[in-house]
Amino acid sequence: MENRINDSSNLDELEKARVAIFGKKGYLAQEFAKLKTIPNEQKREFAKNLNLKKEKLNQLYEQKLAILTKDALHDKMKNESIDVTLFHPKSQIGALHPITQTMNKIIDYFVSLNFSIQEATLVEDDFHNFEALNIPAYHPARDMQDTFFFNDNKLLRTHTSTVQIQVMKDRASKPPIRMISPGAVFRKDFDITHTPMFHQVEGLMVDKVGEISFANLKYILEDFLHYMFGDVKVRFRPSFFPFTEPSCEVDISCIFCNSKGCRVCSQSGWLEVLGSGMVDPNVFEKVGYKDVSGYAFGLGVERFAMLLHKVPDLRSMFEGDLRLLEQMQ
Ligand code: DAH
Repeated sequence: MENRINDSSNLDELEKARVAIFGKKGYLAQEFAKLKTIPNEQKREFAKNLNLKKEKLNQLYEQKLAILTKDALHDKMKNESIDVTLFHPKSQIGALHPITQTMNKIIDYFVSLNFSIQEATLVEDDFHNFEALNIPAYHPARDMQDTFFFNDNKLLRTHTSTVQIQVMKDRASKPPIRMISPGAVFRKDFDITHTPMFHQVEGLMVDKVGEISFANLKYILEDFLHYMFGDVKVRFRPSFFPFTEPSCEVDISCIFCNSKGCRVCSQSGWLEVLGSGMVDPNVFEKVGYKDVSGYAFGLGVERFAMLLHKVPDLRSMFEGDLRLLEQMQ
């Protein structure tokens, strides 16, 4: 019986040995049962020896149990240990797309100045996209924006300026209005600086006549561009948009070459980033507004993202190449 205990090499075997020795039908029980049949004069001696044996076996069992328990714990710790020096590829953590990041940054600025966020449908009609924005049919200004048309006078909006009309006319908002509208726009264009879908943020501020001047527009856009691009020079350049009069395009000093002149800024030292101007009276007339003045501006989010992240090819923004996206986190 001692051997059964000694030879147990793990806790399972030892448990089997325990049952075989100490169990109800085990070795000791059977030995004690013999007491009934042996002659009386031998009983005392037999019982004494058997009790001694039981005690010895018990001791042996306890010792073995302690050893095997320790071994088992040791084995367990050995198997479960972690080699912290082992190489493991870095786990991938997702991040917002650079266009979303840029959009959020732009939105944060204007929301902090109490501009509301207005959104509208991507499918619009000729009136909202052109007519009401002072771009009559057959006007050459329509050529500025190659449009995707549907059959029934509907089209995919080519700019977020449509939301100006939505807000002032369809939603019948009354001045003062202070809003931006971020969203997707569509044009039939595809090359290194154009994709058929891209994003714009439109801005509009309207109040009683005389309340809003070009100075307000100049101040806010300068402040906004410093917030976006840091310590850059800002330049307002006269331009033309049908829905603003006067109109201007806004440039920042080239952040790639510090205005020295490089390929990105076509050696000019300036990068164009915004279109803006005072809302044309014809637009106010179309939406039924009287005695008001206002400014509007529009910008391309992809262009901002490309400048902020120094990405040369716009198309790469939409290819979903993880290596590029990781760099722009
Ligand atoms: N809608 C113009 C475009 O898509 C951008 C723009 C220019 C919006 C001047 C304006 C603005 O509100 O005043 O090119």
